[in-house]
Amino acid sequence: MNMSITMAEMSFRTPLLTGSGTFGYGDEFKSLVDYNTLGGIVTKSVSLEPRAGNKPPRICETSGGIINSIGLANPGVDSFIANKVSLLPIDETRVFLSVVGNSVEDFLAVVDKFETIADISGYELNVSCPNVKRGGLEIGGDQDAVAAIVKAVRAITKRFISVKLTPNQTSIAPMAQAAVDAGADALTLVNTLIGMAIDTEKQRPLLGNVTGGFSGPPLKPVALAKVWQAAQVVDVPIWASGGMVNGIDCIEFLLAGASGLQLGSVLFTDPFSPQRVLNEMEEYCSHHGVAEISELVGALKV
Ligand SMILES: Cc1cc2nc3c(=O)[nH]c(=O)nc-3n(C[C@H](O)[C@H](O)[C@H](O)COP(=O)(O)O)c2cc1C
Repeated sequence: MNMSITMAEMSFRTPLLTGSGTFGYGDEFKSLVDYNTLGGIVTKSVSLEPRAGNKPPRICETSGGIINSIGLANPGVDSFIANKVSLLPIDETRVFLSVVGNSVEDFLAVVDKFETIADISGYELNVSCPNVKRGGLEIGGDQDAVAAIVKAVRAITKRFISVKLTPNQTSIAPMAQAAVDAGADALTLVNTLIGMAIDTEKQRPLLGNVTGGFSGPPLKPVALAKVWQAAQVVDVPIWASGGMVNGIDCIEFLLAGASGLQLGSVLFTDPFSPQRVLNEMEEYCSHHGVAEISELVGALKV
């Protein structure tokens, strides 16, 4: 069975990737994950300046999933380059650097510095974090702002660019189209939904930031619909992100039109999930006479 897949002229060993912020910078999972099971990893988002993140608590459980308000805590691009790049599993799998910023200039400055790092497969532009006051939703909900960022980054790099969009918008199609028209090679769909949870004994929010990003299995139907809707209007590869915990979840996303599958919150409850999920996908393929996993992409019969 051939589990490899080609996207934007790049070959991936499998369609499985790890979602930004759920796999650190790759080094933490080295003893837990067999990189042969992955097509690539996406790093935690990196910004121009170091970010301390939001007030704790920053993560809580809720019905069927989790809400996080990490607030994009990260060491900033210079410290990342000095201390983290050498730890990236570049020899083991494809590495995509996630970039976040408050403005076009921020994105450009980070990507410009990343261009000096050899053997990186590309970038994921995070224009969709719900946990920051600037740079997140204001940008992610504004087509012109997203297009301006993608266009500017496109002009300074030949590397692959995926643009990660927010599900916190009624229709994903115009935003997907705007990102692709501006030069995106792929789309990552989707980031977290805005969520909130309350401790009724204390009558206080469970998160220091009050609201956060809701992820995990309940996000799956929303993400699936966004992937399907975007796949109707754009002709670039789509990386699915949202609630996948098993191989059948992944098959659903492939059928809806995704060719990359990012595991996220499931890595916290089951760090070994990439191997299990890949086995489950292979099992599905053998039961359904699928010789090449790529046959399933967009194969939904409607
Ligand atoms: C703790 C945590 C931190 C995250 N940090 C980032 C981040 O830095 N950048 C980003 O683009 N997405 C981030 N995400 C979003 C995930 O990459 C993913 O898009 C989202 O969780 C939905 O997938 P899931 O339901 O499989 O977790 C984070 C998610 C979680 C749970």
